[in-house]
Amino acid sequence: MSLDLHKYVVSIPDYPEKGIIFRDILPLMADGQAFKQATHEIVDYAKNKHVDMVVGPEARGFIVGCPVAYALGVGFAPARKKGKLPRPAISSTYDLEYGEATLQMENDAIKPGQRVLVVDDLLATGGTISATIDMVERMGGVVVGTAFIIELKDLQGRKKIADYDVKALMEY
Ligand code: PRP
Ligand code: HPA
Repeated sequence: MSLDLHKYVVSIPDYPEKGIIFRDILPLMADGQAFKQATHEIVDYAKNKHVDMVVGPEARGFIVGCPVAYALGVGFAPARKKGKLPRPAISSTYDLEYGEATLQMENDAIKPGQRVLVVDDLLATGGTISATIDMVERMGGVVVGTAFIIELKDLQGRKKIADYDVKALMEY
């Protein structure tokens, strides 16, 4: 039986700033059946794409990406917030819905020609995913798809990744 995943997302008005409705996905992740279904929906989307690696940005992209990588039988590479990686890294700076940030990946995380699925919990302005895609491509990876549990339509993140295949399990 299929669950309505919307029921596991809690909407919080005026967080972190007045006028923003924050969509909290942690209740979905805390429910075994809902998290399993969301994971399986992303795995289904990816399973014929011949994915070699899954990449997800810190922090909630790790929670989404790791079970997907495990189910696909491929590796996971994190895009970390700046200053966390011990080996040579490449960086990409981007604007957030609120603020600015830099992500980094170890510069051998993706081998040239590898087929990469890039995942995150949520697509808002698209800055985070674009920065992640940018690093994957600078290492020679081929982004064969992007997947999110939630897409915030009003913020038009999809426009930033118009050249890529996009799967969103829910829209708000
Ligand atoms: C949130 C969310 C996405 C990103 C989406 O992460 O998990 O990664 O913002 O926004 P964008 O499409 O406008 O870039 P955040 O940077 O808050 O980090 P966190 O997962 O560590 O909380
Ligand atoms: N929820 C969770 N993460 C976010 C949001 C949101 O509404 N907007 C930007 N990152």
